[in-house]
Amino acid sequence: MTGRLIFVLMLGLATSPAVAEGDAAAGKTIFQRTCENCHATVIGVNKIGPSLWNVVGRTPATIPDFAYSDAMKANKQTWTPTTLDAYLADPRGDVHGVKMFFRGLPSPGDRSDVITYLQTLK
Ligand code: HEC
Repeated sequence: MTGRLIFVLMLGLATSPAVAEGDAAAGKTIFQRTCENCHATVIGVNKIGPSLWNVVGRTPATIPDFAYSDAMKANKQTWTPTTLDAYLADPRGDVHGVKMFFRGLPSPGDRSDVITYLQTLK
């Protein structure tokens, strides 16, 4: 009984990260190719877009000294893997993205990898 429970738990540990999360290393490569021209990953550095340091879990449009669009300032939905996924799928179609001139990441796998990478920025 206990043995079976432990087996099931181990199976869960072994399989769930691959299903639920992306690959941070692959996400970093995608980030460097598609986001880095506009976004720095270190604290306090804004480029065309705001710094994405520690972005997961924070309120949108809260980097000081960055001139966000009114749409982004009106967005009160915390950046979570779910809200980031919707935003990155179609930044300009998503009401929050009017100022981000980027077509988005159409592949769910790419988005999941990038979001996993963003979670390491803290
Ligand atoms: C062409 C430049 C550009 C590219 C490329 C770009 N962004 Fe942006 N990003 C912006 C701008 C500008 C804003 C501010 C949007 C606004 O105020 O409406 C922004 C905002 C954001 C925000 C909200 C930040 C906050 O402080 O609330 C996130 C998250 C984000 N971008 C992620 C990404 C990711 C991840 C990629 C790559 C997959 C990416 N962006 C590619 C310019 C860009």
